[in-house]
Amino acid sequence: MSDLVKLTVDGIEVEVPPGASIMQACEAAGAEIPRFCYHERLSVAGNCRMCLVEVERSPKPVASCAMPVAPDMVVRTQSDLVKTAREGVMELMLINHPLDCPICDQGGECDLQDQAMGYGHDASRFSDTKRAVENKNMGPLVNTVMTRCIHCTRCVRFSTEVAGVPEIGAIGRGEDMEITTYLEASLDSELSGNVIDLCPVGALTSKPYAFTARPWELRKTETIDVMDAVGSNIRVDVRGREVMRILPRNHDGVNEEWLSDKSRFVWDGLNRQRLDRPYLRRDGKLVAASWDEALQAVSEQLAQGDVAALAGDLACVEGMYALKALMLQLGSPHLDCRPAHSVLGGNRANYIFNSSIAGIEEADALLLVGTNPRHEAAVLNARIRKQWRETQMPIATIGVPADLTYPVTHLGAGPDTLTALAKGKIEFLNVLKKASRPMIIVGEQALSREDGQAIFNLLIELAQDVEAVQDGWAGFNVLHLAASRVGGLDIGFVPEDGGMARHDIMNAAQKGTLKTLISLGDETISGASKACVIYIGSHGDAGAAAADIVLPAAAYTEKQALYVNTEGRVQMTECAALPPGDAREDWKIIRAISGRMAEALPFDSLQDLRQKLFEEVPHLSQIDVVSTAGLPDKGPAGSVTDVPFGVAIDDFFLSNAIARASVTMASCSQERLRRATSAQGTGTNG
Ligand code: SF4
Ligand code: SF4
Ligand code: FES
Repeated sequence: MSDLVKLTVDGIEVEVPPGASIMQACEAAGAEIPRFCYHERLSVAGNCRMCLVEVERSPKPVASCAMPVAPDMVVRTQSDLVKTAREGVMELMLINHPLDCPICDQGGECDLQDQAMGYGHDASRFSDTKRAVENKNMGPLVNTVMTRCIHCTRCVRFSTEVAGVPEIGAIGRGEDMEITTYLEASLDSELSGNVIDLCPVGALTSKPYAFTARPWELRKTETIDVMDAVGSNIRVDVRGREVMRILPRNHDGVNEEWLSDKSRFVWDGLNRQRLDRPYLRRDGKLVAASWDEALQAVSEQLAQGDVAALAGDLACVEGMYALKALMLQLGSPHLDCRPAHSVLGGNRANYIFNSSIAGIEEADALLLVGTNPRHEAAVLNARIRKQWRETQMPIATIGVPADLTYPVTHLGAGPDTLTALAKGKIEFLNVLKKASRPMIIVGEQALSREDGQAIFNLLIELAQDVEAVQDGWAGFNVLHLAASRVGGLDIGFVPEDGGMARHDIMNAAQKGTLKTLISLGDETISGASKACVIYIGSHGDAGAAAADIVLPAAAYTEKQALYVNTEGRVQMTECAALPPGDAREDWKIIRAISGRMAEALPFDSLQDLRQKLFEEVPHLSQIDVVSTAGLPDKGPAGSVTDVPFGVAIDDFFLSNAIARASVTMASCSQERLRRATSAQGTGTNG
């Protein structure tokens, strides 16, 4: 006995759930249905009519994406009627479509081009002038050629439904219909680039990529993004050794098929401000040196002892593992991969996003503490919005008020509100208690302050009180800011016994009680450091400027390396392009340093290193697995202050060295500033 609906598609009997569309039934039967407006992650619009099929006893062909199945339906997808109907739709669509293919950036990957091969005619029956539509200003990321628009409304539905910024819409009717941004400006969204992928034609294309390459010229590499701690799956397209564009890959557990604008458009930063040779500071200036000279200088410096190491936001697991091994070999316990005053570490459940990103879709009440997920993890924020749209789950926040693209109750600004909530003085406690799967998301920054441990303990108590952590549900989640963090914590890149944490290391470097500070891409070390700073990194940013010895390293698109995302998912980047000049992978640089010391590190290849790494931390060998981490546990008691939670990311577009090297990110930042200034001027926050 089954609840499924049985129907026949092209003579093949299929069973699909009630409510499924005819298109889904056709797909289940292996029939390919052309489409323009339908997209599985958006609401059904049913306006392009390209998906017409024949349904027995129906007087006209029906739009298969918009019509639900019925028992015993007989559907034909390849009949003459269907072919003629689709040819008619195509003919109408092409009446006003420009003959732009040779100069259109969509060429070679255009749904309209592809479908026209199957359903188009070689001549037009229309001799009237084609209509022309004025292009719209969509800011520095999205190029518009609106004459090519086929009014599928995917971009409109995306901005309204997924991004939560209803700033694109249709105006006019019939022949006069136009898709437009109401504000003649870029979408106020961190996800706006996704409309480029969604647009089935060349109406919305990538502005930074415009006229630079054709798809068939590009070498495509599937890899992982490191712009935030989400670990979005991406494809990097390269010509020669130059990254030409970055596109999202679908991963239902991580980013679905969306990508944040920073992850998508940061690629020009990979080609600028690169460190392509070692540098040594001589007479106050950094001057180019050979690897031999640089390694010699490093080994002489390290031989003096008193060394500490810090790992930055983009460091990979292998680099940190090698650096930790070097530190232990040097006998130094001073290392840290966390922000200053961070309390993260220990039990893995204490520092990962325990429910998993996909688990957000099971939550029925949410408390955000000291975090703005829209800026800290834009794609994850879209998942929260998705769940809110589905269930209207109540969401409250403690921290700086912000537009998160869904309704949020702002409870207060700091730990005092958290204390009041935990004591039941705020009604939202009952909301969390009544929920069967309550979720707490705490920002990394809320746990990186002097009262971080007390806040952490308070959150654990609250989580226990509202049963956010129970059998089958782990609703206590830490949202990290950086791709390196969970990997660093997993391998224990934190102070060893008697070692200094980041803030003490920084103080010691300022005071001069530390002789050497090795920075693995850390950009927070200031030029006031009295310690000799050895910087291993890819970009000439603040970290390199403050260094005395600069060792050039590969960026995330230039190496095969492990990263662990905020939910503890181990993922691997692939080498899409070679690093520039003399730049090398981090672990190789550290291995070469150790080769100049008394004893070399015990690995000569990446395989050797990984073998040792996996022996020590077995779960890192399980690529793409999210494992349950158990229950978080409280640390030493303390008391909270009334200092409010701050903003973790001042400028979404300029949050790391690669982004700061990108011209596109700089224009986005300026555009957002311009928008904010004009909103202030007009008294709106649009
Ligand atoms: Fe050609 Fe497609 Fe561009 Fe239209 S949108 S001009 S069909 S490539
Ligand atoms: Fe569709 Fe593209 Fe037009 Fe938007 S701009 S309605 S996505 S064709
Ligand atoms: Fe069905 Fe557009 S795909 S109407």
